Amino acid sequence: MRHLLTPQDFSVEELEDLFVLADDIENNSAKYSHICDGKKLATLFYEPSTRTRLSHETAMINLGGSVIGFPSGNVSSATKGESVADTIRVISCFADIAAIRHPKEGAAAVAAAYSSIPIINAGDGGHQHPTQTLLDMQTIRRLKGRLSDMTIGICGDLKFGRTVHSLVEAMSRYEGISFVFISPQELRMPDYVTDILHDRGIDYEEVTKLEDAIPKLDVLYMTRVQKERFFNEEDYIRLKDFYILDEKKLAAAKPDCYILHPLPRVNEIAPEVDNDPRAAYFLQVKYGVLVRMAVILTLLERN
Ligand code: NCD
Repeated sequence: MRHLLTPQDFSVEELEDLFVLADDIENNSAKYSHICDGKKLATLFYEPSTRTRLSHETAMINLGGSVIGFPSGNVSSATKGESVADTIRVISCFADIAAIRHPKEGAAAVAAAYSSIPIINAGDGGHQHPTQTLLDMQTIRRLKGRLSDMTIGICGDLKFGRTVHSLVEAMSRYEGISFVFISPQELRMPDYVTDILHDRGIDYEEVTKLEDAIPKLDVLYMTRVQKERFFNEEDYIRLKDFYILDEKKLAAAKPDCYILHPLPRVNEIAPEVDNDPRAAYFLQVKYGVLVRMAVILTLLERN
């Protein structure tokens, strides 16, 4: 059974096929509008979400399928003490594919181990968020025309930000990629991610000042400080406004340095940046639906 738990579950060639499929869906949407007739997607969300849940649901509806699920653990039998393993065995009887988001790292892998339908990891704690990465990559691929040969700056909460763990794992498989990690000391990229870079011989720098990094970047990926993963409020308050990208800072960036953000944004990008032609964070949302359509189709076809 094929699942999407981390971006590594797809080879670079399979990812390219997926992006080409997303391009085709964009250009020939009518061809795909009944391709999943009669199929059901279950969205099992134990953590808050706006984009990821609704984007998966929209993707399945656009393919002609339908959707069941719950938007919060509080309204599921999790409140009665049911395990993810039991829930997914039940959901496997109802749906053809499931997207799961859970506050615990590894929850999607547990679901996959007990599931008889493909599982999409829609975020497991501070660990991974592979569909976000695929849509980030499609945005980069479409804006820059390539996924190789670039310097990617990643700024903010690199410790708890699951989207950036998946992004670094995935992008480090392409030629000529280097990274600049911009974070306060307390929120540095975890060792399990930098170990992958060491193993693959990929260059990266770690800096604390955004201004020092900006001029050399081809992509700047901003992130929110992950309040819900902090152990104490004081640390969160101290770190939450550490970075604020505004037009003044962006003046030093290359004319084609695109700004990405998985959203939701809190204070880390000033609203004035939204009008800058390099701001790509709402475009990411559009590619999110197309890429998730391609993910659903690929997982249903391959299983
Ligand atoms: C991200 C997440 O849930 O990890 N949001 C999203 O899915 N687009 C990022 C975040 O919450 O900061």
